[in-house]
Amino acid sequence: MRSRPIIAIDGPAGAGKSTIARKIAAALNFVYIDTGAMYRALTLRLVRSKTDPSDVGAVRTILQAVRIGFDPSGKIFLDGEDVSGTLRTAEVNGMVSTVAGLPVVREYMQKLQREIGKEGGVVLDGRDIGSAVFPDAECKFYLDASLEERARRRMNDSKEQLFVNLEAIQQDIARRDAADSQREHSPLVRAEDAHYIDTTGMGPGMVVETMLEYIDQRSVR
Ligand code: DC
Repeated sequence: MRSRPIIAIDGPAGAGKSTIARKIAAALNFVYIDTGAMYRALTLRLVRSKTDPSDVGAVRTILQAVRIGFDPSGKIFLDGEDVSGTLRTAEVNGMVSTVAGLPVVREYMQKLQREIGKEGGVVLDGRDIGSAVFPDAECKFYLDASLEERARRRMNDSKEQLFVNLEAIQQDIARRDAADSQREHSPLVRAEDAHYIDTTGMGPGMVVETMLEYIDQRSVR
């Protein structure tokens, strides 16, 4: 039995999950785990070693040696290096859905995420947290927004010069949504017991307020 609850936040790319999850974790004094960053860190490792993600044997070998983890402030480390600022490049964006679709990768990440979150007192955001990683999470959310709004948010966040074109971002998000929802192993789905919030037209403050109210109603704090 966990002494503290687990808050699961799932949803498609650009729905604002990481911004919101960070704020919820701060409000509750919980630890925030960005599971997308874990898939991105592994993808960065493959990019750096020029490993083809379709070479499952090579990916498996890398998984046996790679170290991915967080420090208490939420920074993500790849083999001891802080890679928090280098995970949103066009190269990583282009490859991450393929990497995240590999069963060997999903098994590895889900096991690691369960290990990190098992004591509770955590907010995890991703695609399969409420449906597959912690189906018994005390509180589950599914955050959504229109494709146009999600692309706009990504554009505002993006530091990549190449990615200033709204149309291109929209296409990239739509492609990743399709890959994430259609993969065989733990696809992006809305868990039946997840609280659905369409955040289109809502600012982060209002989303956080709505979620904290729901958390309080469920008395899981
Ligand atoms: O949330 P994000 O854009 O940083 O996620 C990067 C990719 O990782 C995304 O294409 C889907 C994948 N992902 C996943 O499959 N499962 C998760 N729990 C989190 C992310």
